[in-house]
Amino acid sequence: MIDVNDIKNELKSAIDNVSSLVDLEQVRLEYLGKKGKITSFMQKLKDLSNEEKKEFGQEINIAKQHIEEQIKNKYDELYSKYLEAKLKSEYIDVSIPVKNTSNGHLHPCTKVYNEVRDIFVNMGYEVVKGPEIEYDEYNFEKLNIEKGHPARDEQDTFYINDKIVLRTQTSPVQARVMESGKLPIKMISPGRVFRSDAVDATHSPTFHQIEGLVVDKNITFADLKGTLTYFSKAFFGDKVETRFRPHHFPFTEPSAEMDVSCFKCGGKGCRFCKNEGWIEILGCGMVNPKVYELCGLDENLQGFAFGIGIERLALLKYEIDDMRLLYENDIRFLNQF
Ligand code: DAH
Repeated sequence: MIDVNDIKNELKSAIDNVSSLVDLEQVRLEYLGKKGKITSFMQKLKDLSNEEKKEFGQEINIAKQHIEEQIKNKYDELYSKYLEAKLKSEYIDVSIPVKNTSNGHLHPCTKVYNEVRDIFVNMGYEVVKGPEIEYDEYNFEKLNIEKGHPARDEQDTFYINDKIVLRTQTSPVQARVMESGKLPIKMISPGRVFRSDAVDATHSPTFHQIEGLVVDKNITFADLKGTLTYFSKAFFGDKVETRFRPHHFPFTEPSAEMDVSCFKCGGKGCRFCKNEGWIEILGCGMVNPKVYELCGLDENLQGFAFGIGIERLALLKYEIDDMRLLYENDIRFLNQF
């Protein structure tokens, strides 16, 4: 009924023709599947006598084992070929040198800000942010700059309406922090400010400042000088000296402008410091008691404040002579820092 040799031969040529795992599965089904040859032989067994069953059954089992073995061998062979091809196609040479990619870097103004911030944070200052769109009340009124005050004209203001402006300075953050009433205060506040100025080498309608404010008891002008001198040496180098010239700001009394000795010529006078030996760095002063009152604090407190222009520091530190370069984002320029 069944010739094992016939099946073996037939199977051999079927398997020899197979070159993929999918085709091999077809062969397997053809012999061992539900409708396969071996299965159909098995089904015939039930019609046979016991004698024949025994003999025929044995034959079928031998044939079945043979088929399983052959298919398994072919499977192993094809599968290892498949793996080999897969490994080849996924091969990555980790020793190939990578392409040079450029990571970019921080803008000179960001670098300057980060440096200034770190100096003050290391002295225990907190960083506070305030809104760029600000109430006239905070930008001016609470800083003792009432309507009609000449200081308003100096800061050509972008008005959104009569109550709201684009802040012309970071000083309104002082008013906001004082008004919150938590003491002592020791903060810096960085940010963008706006003035309706035409663009030229030293002006821009938008630039950046860092505000500083300390309020506590027993704070003196000596604390202001000590702090800002420490800052100047940390930022420009140990050799620089500072000097404080009387000035006027409505929200500080007394007020001063601070110069540092020219870090290029050491104070002898050069092109960089326009032969002055000194370079103006920032405005500062003791918080005007009027401002405590306007912000709802006790007038008997003491404190100092200062305002630093970030662009100005960047121009000085990196010896850039035109502010516009900082905003044009010309990669050939920026790559130098
Ligand atoms: N807000 C001033 C300006 O924009 C700068 C300034 C001066 C800030 C003195 C201060 C200060 O806190 O005490 O011109």
